[in-house]
Amino acid sequence: MAQYLEFEGISKSFPGVKALDDISFKSKGGKVLALLGENGAGKSTLLKIMSGDLRADTGAISLNGEKLNLISPQQAIKAGISVIYQERQLIPTMSVMENIFAGALPKKAGFVKRAQLKAETQAIIDKFGIPISPEVPVMFLSIAHQQMVEIMKAYRRNSKVIAFDEPTAPLTDVEIKILFDLIKQLKEEGKIIIYVSHRIKEIFEITDDIVVLKDGKYVAKLVTAETDERALISAMVGRDIGDTYANLIRNDSIGEVLLEANNVTTYAVSDISFTLHRGEVLGFAGLVGSGRTEVMRAIFGADAIISGEIRLEGRQMSFKTPKDAIDAGIALCPEDRKEQGLVLFRSIEDNVCMPVLGKLRRWPFLNTKACEALTVKAVKKYDIKTPTVDKLVVELSGGNQQKVILGRWTSELIDTKILILDEPTKGIDVKTKAEIYQTVCDLAKQGIGVIFISSELTEVINVADTIVVMHNGSIAGTVKRADATEENVLAMAMLEQMEVKV
Ligand SMILES: Nc1ncnc2c1ncn2[C@@H]1O[C@H](COP(=O)(O)OP(=O)(O)OP(=O)(O)O)[C@@H](O)[C@H]1O
Ligand SMILES: [Mg+2]
Repeated sequence: MAQYLEFEGISKSFPGVKALDDISFKSKGGKVLALLGENGAGKSTLLKIMSGDLRADTGAISLNGEKLNLISPQQAIKAGISVIYQERQLIPTMSVMENIFAGALPKKAGFVKRAQLKAETQAIIDKFGIPISPEVPVMFLSIAHQQMVEIMKAYRRNSKVIAFDEPTAPLTDVEIKILFDLIKQLKEEGKIIIYVSHRIKEIFEITDDIVVLKDGKYVAKLVTAETDERALISAMVGRDIGDTYANLIRNDSIGEVLLEANNVTTYAVSDISFTLHRGEVLGFAGLVGSGRTEVMRAIFGADAIISGEIRLEGRQMSFKTPKDAIDAGIALCPEDRKEQGLVLFRSIEDNVCMPVLGKLRRWPFLNTKACEALTVKAVKKYDIKTPTVDKLVVELSGGNQQKVILGRWTSELIDTKILILDEPTKGIDVKTKAEIYQTVCDLAKQGIGVIFISSELTEVINVADTIVVMHNGSIAGTVKRADATEENVLAMAMLEQMEVKV
């Protein structure tokens, strides 16, 4: 009989929120079960309970009918459960083999048997067909390969249950395919797989069943093959949100040239030329690592320009630091919310108001009422799930943290001519994605030039007026929305330079 994992009446509260409310469902071996729900629905909390990082207030988890005692991460591993989080949990300076066998190194008289360790690791690597060496320190591997090492570690532990929390967010399309092949192998071996992602396309590609959560409550269990995107979204959101792209109210009066990049070359990108007009949404597509973020760093004064020039409203600019760029009216909403964006141990309010404190001062004091009002607006606009604006950002769910950054850079007090959004929808649920697209169009209507970088082809070709496609540090082509299809943009992003009619 196939194995099964059963959740029975799981509840978990944090101050002011019931993150999980009486969750019960079953997940079978040899199947991939998607856990789906809006930002803050409780998905990561459920995974953290499975991994022994959090304790449920009530309820139980059992494996093949046997109740598990998940009081610590060690207990969860012993019980056969591995959870792969977005933040890697490897020791960076240690080799692949030491990481895969951490806690179970083959030893003799206190010494590690390296030859055996290497051979056993190689056998696992060969099984999954991953092109890495057992002896290389994991810090030298790509994010994707580090993730593979974690999966192999879970496999080595003989885990019966492997859960993934938004595993594809940092991966390129090619790497996603490798991950999916690996998941399929695990599935064939009868593992119980739980998969969390906001990318609906993936859900249909890789999963068999779907459990939908909403505000910590169980909504439904669906069979993937018997449902469609629209039904799924309406189960998640609680209503039909219609066709997101068709419903967008766009800016139809694009103005004069605002920003020009002429043959810009930096250490990371070469010969970049494009123009951004007032009121225009300029999309940047390309694979992860194609140089999109680096182009923005150059514009923003974060990376030195070796040759070429940037013109803002016709004037040549030479930003030495991001502060110069901000003073000139350029705002950048960065991709990495933790490293470059948010102050995690400060409140939502502090984070939202940070760049506009000067305007919120009623000399010599800070106008706390105005700060709060500004934050409340952001919370409402993006539907940030929180009991108060004082909540620490570190306590928000991943997607809600991303919304705080957006709230910060799109508030009415930000005086921007150009807004650069680098992967603004990463980890964001479908409903809020639609709100972000509309906000982008609204900002364009106000005359702001918006640069919209995204790895999700569908959104970039449907939201942007013009799409710049990057490949390997250069521009592979530029297309208007009307001419853009997923196929032609992907072809440009993946192939060498080709001629494209605009
Ligand atoms: N350590 C914590 N302290 C306080 N509240 C928390 C904590 N961890 C999670 N929460 C709250 O629990 C709720 C569920 O969060 P969770 O991270 O499980 O959501 P999620 O479904 O994973 O969302 P996302 O799609 O954004 O990742 C949220 O309201 C969140 O703010
Ligand atoms: Mg989460």
